[in-house]
Amino acid sequence: MIGLQVRVLISEEEIKKRVSELAVQISRDYAEKDLFVVGILKGAVVFVSDLIREIAVPLEMDFMAISSYGASTQSSGVVKMLKDLDTPVEGRDVLIVEDIIDTGLTLSYLTELLRSRKPNSVQTAVLLDKPDRRKIEYVPDYVGFTVPDKFVIGYGIDYNHKFRELPYIGVVTS
Ligand code: IMP
Ligand code: MG
Repeated sequence: MIGLQVRVLISEEEIKKRVSELAVQISRDYAEKDLFVVGILKGAVVFVSDLIREIAVPLEMDFMAISSYGASTQSSGVVKMLKDLDTPVEGRDVLIVEDIIDTGLTLSYLTELLRSRKPNSVQTAVLLDKPDRRKIEYVPDYVGFTVPDKFVIGYGIDYNHKFRELPYIGVVTS
């Protein structure tokens, strides 16, 4: 994209260190559980891939896809299911893994939906939390970094379907 300025907000090294710390915490918390990781497409793909390789307890993984921003930088407020899980989660310990929580609409919707399927537990892990933008009260169980109300990209997170491949989290400055 011509003219787009990107500033590094969180470096590759900082992300790697924090993902390892989260994995240690998750491994401890899920030691006696039946961990079922639900990655949210597409933004969480990079985070969930790095996270599961650092988790030291057995797990299964599946994916869900939800529509959120489309091609703009403003949330539509509409949450729509695009792809459901392939397997039932009844009795299992579900950990939803998401790239970023902003208004909270996506994670509220997903948490309620998965809870209705009678799992043993549902928790959430987000790489980034933008608490200033919440429309629904929602506190994720595991947070990588708390970030200001700025539009971020990279490490799986897109702007207009681009920049997911960046190894760091950047802020679009123009
Ligand atoms: P929420 O439903 O408003 O919490 O939105 C969560 C989703 O919005 C995330 O999964 C992202 O896909 C998207 N999102 C929120 N903030 C950003 C951002 O700064 N950059 C890119 N996508 C974002
Ligand atoms: Mg998303």
